[in-house]
Amino acid sequence: MENHLRLFIAASLPSELITRLDRDILTAPELRKSGLRPVPAQNLHLTLHFIGETPETKLPDIDSALERAVGGIAVFRVRLVGGGCFPNRRSPRVFWIGIDSEASQALGSLAKTVKNELQKAGIGGDPKPFRPHLTIARVGERFDADQDAGALLKKLDAFNSDPFEINEIVCCASDLSRGKPVYEKVIEKRLIG
Ligand code: 2AM
Repeated sequence: MENHLRLFIAASLPSELITRLDRDILTAPELRKSGLRPVPAQNLHLTLHFIGETPETKLPDIDSALERAVGGIAVFRVRLVGGGCFPNRRSPRVFWIGIDSEASQALGSLAKTVKNELQKAGIGGDPKPFRPHLTIARVGERFDADQDAGALLKKLDAFNSDPFEINEIVCCASDLSRGKPVYEKVIEKRLIG
Protein backbone atom coordinates (compact mmCIF):
# COMPACT_ATOMS: atom_id res chain seq x y z
CA MET A 1 0.00 0.00 0.00
CA GLU A 2 1.16 3.54 -0.77
CA ASN A 3 2.81 5.33 2.15
CA HIS A 4 1.08 8.57 3.23
CA LEU A 5 2.51 11.53 5.14
CA ARG A 6 0.59 14.19 7.09
CA LEU A 7 2.15 17.31 5.64
CA PHE A 8 2.12 21.03 6.36
CA ILE A 9 4.10 24.04 5.18
CA ALA A 10 5.58 26.38 7.77
CA ALA A 11 8.09 29.11 8.47
CA SER A 12 10.65 28.21 11.13
CA LEU A 13 11.61 30.46 14.05
CA PRO A 14 15.17 31.39 15.06
CA SER A 15 16.55 29.24 17.86
CA GLU A 16 17.10 32.22 20.23
CA LEU A 17 13.42 33.12 19.93
CA ILE A 18 12.39 29.52 20.64
CA THR A 19 14.62 29.56 23.73
CA ARG A 20 12.98 32.78 24.91
CA LEU A 21 9.45 31.51 24.24
CA ASP A 22 10.28 28.33 26.16
CA ARG A 23 11.67 30.26 29.14
CA ASP A 24 9.12 33.11 29.27
CA ILE A 25 5.92 31.51 27.97
CA LEU A 26 5.81 27.72 27.62
CA THR A 27 7.08 27.04 31.13
CA ALA A 28 5.20 29.92 32.82
CA PRO A 29 2.70 29.05 35.60
CA GLU A 30 -0.17 30.37 33.43
CA LEU A 31 0.55 27.52 30.98
CA ARG A 32 0.72 24.77 33.61
CA LYS A 33 -3.03 24.32 33.94
CA SER A 34 -5.17 21.24 33.89
CA GLY A 35 -6.34 20.43 30.35
CA LEU A 36 -3.83 22.73 28.66
CA ARG A 37 -1.18 21.25 26.34
CA PRO A 38 1.65 23.68 25.62
CA VAL A 39 3.35 23.07 22.25
CA PRO A 40 6.78 21.46 22.85
CA ALA A 41 9.46 24.10 22.15
CA GLN A 42 10.98 22.09 19.30
CA ASN A 43 7.57 22.03 17.53
CA LEU A 44 7.01 25.82 17.50
CA HIS A 45 6.52 27.14 13.95
CA LEU A 46 4.35 29.50 11.92
CA THR A 47 1.98 27.36 9.84
CA LEU A 48 1.50 28.69 6.29
CA HIS A 49 -0.63 25.91 4.84
CA PHE A 50 -1.92 22.56 6.11
CA ILE A 51 -1.88 19.92 3.36
CA GLY A 52 -2.86 16.81 5.35
CA GLU A 53 -2.50 13.13 4.40
CA THR A 54 -0.67 12.90 1.08
CA PRO A 55 1.03 10.02 -0.78
CA GLU A 56 4.79 10.18 -0.25
CA THR A 57 5.21 9.95 -4.03
CA LYS A 58 3.86 13.53 -4.29
CA LEU A 59 6.91 14.99 -2.53
CA PRO A 60 8.77 15.83 -5.79
CA ASP A 61 5.68 17.79 -7.00
CA ILE A 62 5.51 19.61 -3.66
CA ASP A 63 9.23 20.36 -3.87
CA SER A 64 8.82 21.93 -7.34
CA ALA A 65 5.73 23.90 -6.26
CA LEU A 66 7.59 25.33 -3.24
CA GLU A 67 10.60 26.13 -5.44
CA ARG A 68 8.29 28.18 -7.70
CA ALA A 69 6.60 29.79 -4.67
CA VAL A 70 9.83 31.09 -3.11
CA GLY A 71 11.22 32.15 -6.52
CA GLY A 72 9.71 35.64 -6.25
CA ILE A 73 9.68 36.21 -2.49
CA ALA A 74 12.38 38.05 -0.58
CA VAL A 75 13.39 37.53 3.03
CA PHE A 76 11.22 39.67 5.33
CA ARG A 77 11.09 40.62 8.98
CA VAL A 78 8.49 39.65 11.55
CA ARG A 79 7.78 40.54 15.16
CA LEU A 80 5.65 38.46 17.50
CA VAL A 81 3.19 40.71 19.31
CA GLY A 82 0.24 40.13 21.60
CA GLY A 83 -1.89 37.07 22.06
CA GLY A 84 -5.34 35.59 21.68
CA CYS A 85 -7.29 32.39 21.26
CA PHE A 86 -9.41 30.56 18.69
CA PRO A 87 -12.37 30.40 18.27
CA ASN A 88 -13.41 32.63 21.19
CA ARG A 89 -12.59 33.45 24.77
CA ARG A 90 -15.50 31.52 26.31
CA SER A 91 -14.55 28.19 24.72
CA PRO A 92 -10.95 28.46 23.61
CA ARG A 93 -9.40 25.57 21.63
CA VAL A 94 -6.04 27.12 20.75
CA PHE A 95 -4.03 29.87 22.44
CA TRP A 96 -1.63 31.84 20.27
CA ILE A 97 0.80 34.72 19.99
CA GLY A 98 0.21 37.14 17.10
CA ILE A 99 2.29 38.71 14.33
CA ASP A 100 2.76 42.45 13.74
CA SER A 101 0.39 43.81 11.11
CA GLU A 102 2.92 44.55 8.35
CA ALA A 103 4.46 41.09 8.62
CA SER A 104 0.98 39.53 8.80
CA GLN A 105 0.41 40.86 5.28
CA ALA A 106 3.74 39.50 4.06
CA LEU A 107 3.03 36.11 5.67
CA GLY A 108 -0.48 36.12 4.19
CA SER A 109 0.88 36.76 0.73
CA LEU A 110 3.54 34.03 1.18
CA ALA A 111 0.83 31.60 2.36
CA LYS A 112 -1.35 32.47 -0.66
CA THR A 113 1.52 31.96 -3.12
CA VAL A 114 2.36 28.60 -1.51
CA LYS A 115 -1.30 27.50 -1.63
CA ASN A 116 -1.68 28.60 -5.29
CA GLU A 117 1.48 26.84 -6.45
CA LEU A 118 0.47 23.67 -4.58
CA GLN A 119 -3.00 23.84 -6.10
CA LYS A 120 -1.51 24.14 -9.60
CA ALA A 121 0.40 20.94 -8.83
CA GLY A 122 -2.84 19.23 -7.78
CA ILE A 123 -2.03 19.35 -4.03
CA GLY A 124 -4.98 20.51 -1.92
CA GLY A 125 -5.23 21.27 1.76
CA ASP A 126 -7.11 23.15 4.44
CA PRO A 127 -9.57 25.52 2.68
CA LYS A 128 -9.93 27.79 5.74
CA PRO A 129 -8.70 31.40 5.32
CA PHE A 130 -5.14 31.97 6.54
CA ARG A 131 -4.88 33.62 9.96
CA PRO A 132 -1.26 34.27 10.89
CA HIS A 133 -0.51 33.07 14.44
CA LEU A 134 1.96 31.08 16.49
CA THR A 135 0.14 28.29 18.34
CA ILE A 136 1.34 28.16 21.95
CA ALA A 137 -1.08 25.71 23.57
CA ARG A 138 -4.01 23.48 22.73
CA VAL A 139 -6.99 22.97 25.00
CA GLY A 140 -8.34 19.65 26.25
CA GLU A 141 -11.63 18.84 27.94
CA ARG A 142 -10.48 19.47 31.50
CA PHE A 143 -9.48 23.09 30.88
CA ASP A 144 -11.47 25.55 32.99
CA ALA A 145 -11.68 28.63 30.77
CA ASP A 146 -13.60 30.70 33.34
CA GLN A 147 -10.82 30.20 35.85
CA ASP A 148 -7.64 30.04 33.75
CA ALA A 149 -8.10 31.75 30.37
CA GLY A 150 -7.91 35.35 31.62
CA ALA A 151 -4.43 35.16 33.18
CA LEU A 152 -3.11 33.15 30.24
CA LEU A 153 -4.41 35.66 27.68
CA LYS A 154 -2.87 38.49 29.71
CA LYS A 155 0.47 36.67 29.70
CA LEU A 156 0.38 36.07 25.93
CA ASP A 157 -0.80 39.58 25.19
CA ALA A 158 2.18 41.08 27.01
CA PHE A 159 4.65 39.22 24.76
CA ASN A 160 6.77 41.19 22.26
CA SER A 161 9.72 39.87 20.30
CA ASP A 162 12.56 41.66 18.57
CA PRO A 163 12.22 41.60 14.78
CA PHE A 164 13.55 38.42 13.19
CA GLU A 165 13.92 37.22 9.61
CA ILE A 166 11.74 34.73 7.79
CA ASN A 167 14.32 33.37 5.38
CA GLU A 168 13.07 29.88 4.58
CA ILE A 169 9.94 27.78 4.40
CA VAL A 170 9.76 24.10 5.22
CA CYS A 171 7.48 21.20 4.47
CA CYS A 172 7.10 19.03 7.58
CA ALA A 173 5.64 15.58 8.07
CA SER A 174 3.68 15.29 11.29
CA ASP A 175 3.76 11.83 12.89
CA LEU A 176 0.94 11.40 15.39
CA SER A 177 1.56 7.71 16.05
CA ARG A 178 3.71 8.22 19.17
CA GLY A 179 1.14 9.98 21.35
CA LYS A 180 2.76 13.41 20.88
CA PRO A 181 3.20 14.97 17.42
CA VAL A 182 6.72 14.55 16.04
CA TYR A 183 7.57 16.89 13.14
CA GLU A 184 10.18 15.96 10.55
CA LYS A 185 11.41 18.47 7.98
CA VAL A 186 11.16 16.85 4.53
CA ILE A 187 11.71 19.90 2.25
CA GLU A 188 13.46 23.25 2.88
CA LYS A 189 13.39 26.26 0.55
CA ARG A 190 15.25 29.54 1.04
CA LEU A 191 13.59 32.86 0.26
CA ILE A 192 15.50 35.36 -1.91
CA GLY A 193 18.12 37.47 -0.18
P1 2AM B 1 -1.62 25.53 13.95
O1 2AM B 1 -2.09 26.26 12.72
O2 2AM B 1 -2.39 25.90 15.12
O3 2AM B 1 -0.16 25.66 14.17
C1 2AM B 1 0.37 20.42 11.99
O4 2AM B 1 -0.81 19.85 12.46
C2 2AM B 1 0.29 21.92 11.96
O5 2AM B 1 -0.67 22.36 10.96
C3 2AM B 1 -0.17 22.51 13.27
O6 2AM B 1 0.70 23.55 13.57
C4 2AM B 1 -1.58 22.99 13.03
O7 2AM B 1 -2.04 24.01 13.82
C5 2AM B 1 -1.60 23.28 11.56
N1 2AM B 1 -2.93 23.11 10.98
C6 2AM B 1 -3.59 24.04 10.24
N2 2AM B 1 -4.77 23.56 9.80
C7 2AM B 1 -4.88 22.31 10.29
C8 2AM B 1 -5.91 21.32 10.19
N3 2AM B 1 -7.03 21.52 9.48
N4 2AM B 1 -5.69 20.15 10.82
C9 2AM B 1 -4.55 19.95 11.54
N5 2AM B 1 -3.56 20.84 11.67
C10 2AM B 1 -3.71 22.02 11.05
